[in-house]
Amino acid sequence: MTQEFHKKVIQHPIFKLIGETSEELGMDSYVIGGFVRDYLLNRGIPKDIDIVAIGSGIQLAQKVASKLKGNPQVSVFKNFGTAMIKHEDLELEFVGARKESYQRNSRKPIVEDGSLQDDQNRRDFTINAMALALNPSNFGQLLDPFDGRKDLGRKIIRTPLDPKITYSDDPLRMMRAIRFASQLNFEIEIRSLQAILENKDRIKIVSEERIVDELHKILLSEKPSMGFKLMHQTGLLPLILPELTALQGIEEIEGQRHKDNFWHTLEVVDNISENTDNLWLRWAALLHDIGKAPTKRFHKKIGWTFHAHEFVGSKMVYKLFKRLRMPLNDKMKFVQKMVLMSSRPIALSEDHVTDSAVRRLVFDAGDYVDDLMTLCEADITTKNPKKQRKYKNNFKIVRQKIVEVEEKDQVRNFQPPVSGEEIMKTFNLKPSKEIGIIKDAIKEAILEGDIPNEYEAAYQFMVEKGKQMNLKPASNENE
Ligand code: CTP
Repeated sequence: MTQEFHKKVIQHPIFKLIGETSEELGMDSYVIGGFVRDYLLNRGIPKDIDIVAIGSGIQLAQKVASKLKGNPQVSVFKNFGTAMIKHEDLELEFVGARKESYQRNSRKPIVEDGSLQDDQNRRDFTINAMALALNPSNFGQLLDPFDGRKDLGRKIIRTPLDPKITYSDDPLRMMRAIRFASQLNFEIEIRSLQAILENKDRIKIVSEERIVDELHKILLSEKPSMGFKLMHQTGLLPLILPELTALQGIEEIEGQRHKDNFWHTLEVVDNISENTDNLWLRWAALLHDIGKAPTKRFHKKIGWTFHAHEFVGSKMVYKLFKRLRMPLNDKMKFVQKMVLMSSRPIALSEDHVTDSAVRRLVFDAGDYVDDLMTLCEADITTKNPKKQRKYKNNFKIVRQKIVEVEEKDQVRNFQPPVSGEEIMKTFNLKPSKEIGIIKDAIKEAILEGDIPNEYEAAYQFMVEKGKQMNLKPASNENE
C-alpha cells in the first residue's frame, strides 16, 4: 500500500483541517486506532475517529471547532484530558499522546504526556496501534511500528508489547482480543492466548457493563461460537458465564448417553445467527439450555432426563442478567419467554401437528411466535439426516399452520370475545370465581377449535356453560 492510498483513507476534508490546525499550534497530530484498522480492512468508514496530538488534545479540539461551520460545541473531559466534537455524522475524539503506567488492582492508569511511540506502545493490539499523520509535511504517512498492517493481512491479534503486560495492565483487553477475533475471524497469537490464560482471574477488576459490551459484540459477530470457544479455551467462560460451562460434558450410565449441551448450544447460536441479527434472540439461543445442568437426572427406565429445564432455565436467566448488571427489562423478559417456550414447537412437531396445538402455541407465544420458531429451527443440530429432514419438514407444517390459524382465529394477542362484565350482567353475578371459570372455558373452547374466536359463538357458548353451572340468565329473572 502506498502513501497515496493512505492519503485516500483520510480524504475527508476534516483531516486536512485538523492537520493544518495542529501545524499552526506547533503540534503533530495523527488519526489512530479503530478508524485506521477498519478502513484498511474495508469495513466501511468508521464514524468514531480518534485523533492523537503531541501536545494538548483539548487545545487542538477547541481550535478545530472554531474553524468549523457552525462552531460545534467541544465537550471537554478534563479528568481524561480528552475533548469531543460532533461534526456532520462524525464523532471526533481528541487526546494528547500519553504514556501510561498501571497499578495492580485498577484499570485506571497513571497518565503522563508522551510521544507518539509511547502512545502506540500503550495500545492493546498491533492492528489498533496504527497511526496516519495529518500535518501537511507528512500527511497520509502510516506510522506502524509493530507491523499492524501485516497482522491485518495475516489475520492475527497480537499485542505491541509483551502480552503479559498488555493484559495485566488492562484485563478488559482479554475480552477485546476474543471479541476482535470473533468479529474479524482472526486468530489470537499463541503468546497472547497464554497470557490471557495466566491473567484470566484479573477479569474481576473489570466492570460487568464493559464485559457485557464485549459479550454483545461477540454474540453479534457472524459466527459467535468462535468467541465463546476462545473464552472456554482461555478459562474466561466459567468466570463470566458459569451456567454455560456447566453444560459441558457427556455422561454415560448403563450405556445411555446424553449429548454435550455446551457444544450443542454453540451450534445453535451459530445456526440462529444465520437467520437473525436480533441480539436478544441470539442471547436466547445462548441460554436456551442452561436449565439442563441443574435438572439432569438418570432414571433406570427412561434414561437421562432434564425435567422442567425450560422453567428452571428461565429463572436462571433473571439471575444471570442481574449478576451481569444487564437491564431487567422487556429484553430480559423476552429472553426468559424464549427459554421457557424453547421446547414447545419441537414437542409439537414430533407427532402429527394438530390445529389446536398450533393455536395454543400462538396463544402462548403471542407476537414472539416467529422468533420462537426461528430459535427452535436453530435448535435442530442432529447429525442424523433422516431426523433432520423430519424436523425441518414438520416445522414447515407448523409455520404454515400458524398462518392459517391466525387467519381464522387471531389468537396471537388474544382478547376474550365476551368480557367479564357481560358475563356478570348476563347471569346477574357479583365478582366471583364463576366468571373466571366461564371466561376460561370460552378461551379453552376457542383454543381447542370447538368454537371460532367470534362474539356470537362465544356468547352462545357462555349461555350454555352457565346453564351447566346452574346459573340463571338475568333476563329470565325479570320475566
Ligand atoms: N484501546 C486500548 N485498550 C482498551 C481500549 C481501547 O488500547 N482497553 C485503544 C485501541 O487502540 C483502540 C482505541 O483505543 O483502537 C479506541 O478504542 P475503542 O473506541 O474502544 O475501540 P475501537 O478499536 O475503535 O473498536 P470498536 O469501535 O469496535 O470497539
